[in-house]
Amino acid sequence: MVLTLTFKATKHREKQMAAIIKTSEEIDKMRIAGQQAADVLTMIEPFVQVGITTNELNQRCHDFIVNEQGGIPAPLNYHGFPKSICTSLNYVVCHGIPNDKPLKEGDIINIDITVIKDGYHGDTSKMFMVGKTSILAKRLSMIAQECLYIGINLVKPGARLGDIGAAIQKHAEKNSYSIVREYCGHGIGAVFHEEPQILHYGKKGTGDTLKVGQCFTIEPMVNAGKRNCKVLKDEWTVITKDKKLSAQWEHTLLVTEAGVEILTLRPEETIERLINHD
Ligand code: MF3
Ligand code: CO
Ligand code: CO
Repeated sequence: MVLTLTFKATKHREKQMAAIIKTSEEIDKMRIAGQQAADVLTMIEPFVQVGITTNELNQRCHDFIVNEQGGIPAPLNYHGFPKSICTSLNYVVCHGIPNDKPLKEGDIINIDITVIKDGYHGDTSKMFMVGKTSILAKRLSMIAQECLYIGINLVKPGARLGDIGAAIQKHAEKNSYSIVREYCGHGIGAVFHEEPQILHYGKKGTGDTLKVGQCFTIEPMVNAGKRNCKVLKDEWTVITKDKKLSAQWEHTLLVTEAGVEILTLRPEETIERLINHD
């Protein structure tokens, strides 16, 4: 089945195509690309302050990736995307385009970085709080990160994609939030968005079975209000229909013999890079 934009969840899928299993040489490259994407988020953190524009953040990330890392910012010109990073502010769900508007006190923003290094992709995003933010905003961001971590903790050979989606959905809904359905995680490697699609909702015991050597992202989009989205006239920016806040966190993962390796882990995180279920 042909997908136009592979990260846009297709509705009526036929049979799932097999995931691509990476060789150990490819996995080495995925580790480097993942590390670099993570390093960009760490680098940009001190600059995410009241008054900076998302274009300035875009420029800093672009220059760091190209000049310091010898990498390529994957979003730039990807299906016509005009910038090097995605910046999704407040009620923007994903794919926000950097612009000249300064950040203001109380904003929440997702910065999504994808680096190509030596032909392989590392894809990761996190939420930043700008100045003092509301309790709701902080809680939404925290629950969205917990959704990501709950998903990651279920990754191991033999686990099913529906187990992961169901657990993520359950955690969001238990906290009276909703999960976006139209966008999903994805297989990743030499191709930015490859099979399979990783839905952040679903039914336990259904879906593809995970295999050692497979790489994919988990990137739940959690809405404070209803799950429904719409795309703005720029054909990229996805917003919540009810204009309530949305939060997203993303990691690139490798399925290992014993569980999972988080390829885009940052030093600030409390979760382990290697999760061993044996
Ligand atoms: N990084 C996004 C993802 O997690 C995709 C952005 S594609 C772009 O899959 F074209 F909008 F940059
Ligand atoms: Co992604
Ligand atoms: Co991403």
